[in-house]
Amino acid sequence: MPHPRNILIAYASRLGSTAEVAQTIADEIGAVARWIGDIDNLAGYDAVIIGSAIRYDKWLPEATDFVKTHYSTLQTMPVAIFLTCLTLSHKSPKALQQATRYADSIATTLPHVHTAGIGQFAGVLDYSKMPRRARLLARLVFAFLRVPEGDYRDWQAIRAWAKTTLPRIEQRKSS
Ligand SMILES: Cc1cc2nc3c(=O)[nH]c(=O)nc-3n(C[C@H](O)[C@H](O)[C@H](O)COP(=O)(O)O)c2cc1C
Repeated sequence: MPHPRNILIAYASRLGSTAEVAQTIADEIGAVARWIGDIDNLAGYDAVIIGSAIRYDKWLPEATDFVKTHYSTLQTMPVAIFLTCLTLSHKSPKALQQATRYADSIATTLPHVHTAGIGQFAGVLDYSKMPRRARLLARLVFAFLRVPEGDYRDWQAIRAWAKTTLPRIEQRKSS
């Protein structure tokens, strides 16, 4: 089955790790990854994958704003979404439940968009990337949450998700 060639990966990322996830997905399926703030319109794209880091239990506001701004267009095309978070640095059922709650709450912001998939990925904790004034609070919060500094991204899982999501997007396009 031919793939829709012009797939956009629209990503929101504050410290860069979600940008790299977006680029990896783009490379895997031959799509284009662009920072969400640079995207004025969706003309010329056949499908969109929207991804964002989770901060304070939510997608970044720029991702939510993007969905609001382009909502009517998003209803007319195949859409998949993904999130990165540090909850998934833990492998417990409780952590999975929490990540699923994030995904569910994002899905409620797209009630009339049939998403072809929701990827949930572990992200990165790197204090050196944070503004100095934010580090102390972050250290306290993540110590409390028992998340050591580290890169928790599972590239194999990210690529596998991209590969399985592509045909789902294609199905939506032709149905
Ligand atoms: C200020 C701040 C708040 C965060 N809030 C959450 C959260 O509520 N839940 C969670 O699972 N991860 C949370 N994270 C972890 C981020 O989702 C994770 O570090 C992600 O990889 C950051 O992506 P970025 O490098 O693209 O900005 C938070 C990180 C920071 C720095």
